[in-house]
Amino acid sequence: MGKDGIIIVGSGLAALTAAYYLRAQENVTIFTKKNRVDSNSWRAQGGVAAALATGDDWRTHFHDTLMAGCHHNDARMVELLVREGPKRLQEWIDAGMAFDTDEHGRPCFGLEGGHSHRRILHAGGDQTGKALVSFLLQQLNDRVPLVEEEQVIDLLIEDGRCVGVKTMRKDGRVSVWRASAVVLATGGCAGLYTFTSNALTATGDGIAMAYRAGAAVADMEFIQFHPTMLAAGGRAVGLVSEAVRGEGAVLETEDGRRVMDGVHPLGDLAPRDVVARAIVAELERGVRVYLNISAVSHFRRRFPTIAALCEAHGVDLEAGRLPVVPGAHFLMGGIVVNEWGQTTVPGLYAIGEAACTGVHGANRLASNSLLEAIVFGARVADAINCQAGWPTSGRRADRSVDRPPCLLAPPLPGRAHIREQLSASVGIVRDRERLREAVDWLEQFSLPHWLEGDVETLAAEEIETGYMLLAGWLVASSALRRTESRGGHYRSDFPHPHPDWQGRRLVRTKEEWASAPVGR
Ligand code: SIN
Repeated sequence: MGKDGIIIVGSGLAALTAAYYLRAQENVTIFTKKNRVDSNSWRAQGGVAAALATGDDWRTHFHDTLMAGCHHNDARMVELLVREGPKRLQEWIDAGMAFDTDEHGRPCFGLEGGHSHRRILHAGGDQTGKALVSFLLQQLNDRVPLVEEEQVIDLLIEDGRCVGVKTMRKDGRVSVWRASAVVLATGGCAGLYTFTSNALTATGDGIAMAYRAGAAVADMEFIQFHPTMLAAGGRAVGLVSEAVRGEGAVLETEDGRRVMDGVHPLGDLAPRDVVARAIVAELERGVRVYLNISAVSHFRRRFPTIAALCEAHGVDLEAGRLPVVPGAHFLMGGIVVNEWGQTTVPGLYAIGEAACTGVHGANRLASNSLLEAIVFGARVADAINCQAGWPTSGRRADRSVDRPPCLLAPPLPGRAHIREQLSASVGIVRDRERLREAVDWLEQFSLPHWLEGDVETLAAEEIETGYMLLAGWLVASSALRRTESRGGHYRSDFPHPHPDWQGRRLVRTKEEWASAPVGR
């Protein structure tokens, strides 16, 4: 790569969409810390929501998105999402992207929670993410190099501008890459929890790196927990798509009592936070919860991934009941960006779940995340295409950049331990005492070093752990500060939305450390 490259970090749908629309540029490189199929997008069972069906309209989709997001959304960004989404999808369909159709070749539009219209496009039944990623990889046809197993460990900042990245290979070798634009598409941080639908690589490292580099992050307290992960052997072993409830499955207890009766007018398709809390209430009473799938026709054909998951874990589909537990699923917050994916640091962009565009508000509407990846992945490419040829700073990126090495004191906790702590204290139901404990626990691990020190002398695993601590701290300390409940953020000591918090975002920058202690 020459000195003015464009670097995309991550290999999910947002990253590949940006690469697709940047493919005419010569100098684009994608770095991913694992491999091209190790992303949340690849595993996405749910589909893409878009107002393409007869009788549907972007305004209805807009309204549903704001309702799900508890009106914490940025309405202007939501409008961009729901108006541009159908156009981009139609363009991809015309280019050969195959969504599921009925026997007459008409698109099948599915239903999921919070949608007032059948508008979810699926591919391969429950393999939409895999189909979209495969489509883009095929379209790219190696025109954009995708470097696997090379982890971006830091962003290079010169004169307040992002001018490149540092990477580390599996053998520990560090490289410095100069770039005129760096696009973070590193996903969210639901991998900070023990029960999660996410790839375990989704630990918030892109968000932590951006915060370290001086970028603003926001809405970190808003984590969506998906109500139905398959439970087996005391663990959550994979997602059971909400589309299963969309096709008629219902939540019930061992003795057949309906869990959602009397809880919410939308019943089993109530907002995810409401359903997840109803399940937690049962589990805390020692009552197991099941998804009764007997009303779903052709289950194996419609949901092949879930059927295979059940078989792999000894869950008998013929019995018609899948044991379920909630698990961390999606971060509504992230790196603050404008409508072109630009962060508050010039030269640094963010898209997909790593970014906080404001489209999801306090709670994401089902199947809006792939749509966001497509719309804003394309927008970031449009922005960079317009700015191509911008000069970078004249100074050469230097590995040593005058930073002291990042010190480790006390020894870092294991990653499983971090996940347990966050699950126990910053989970589905939160309160001041447990959040305070979590913040104190996280702050003992020399967080200031994680803000300033040079990480290249550390092992890759230590760097990832440090970024997990920083991302976890952003979630916990934001959750402590928001003294209300709204969408994905529920506090038992403040169980209702408060008008003072309406429309208020918790925007965080590392400048806050100048007035430490900051976690209070
Ligand atoms: C699901 O299939 O239930 C997840 C889809 C989504 O989160 O949008």
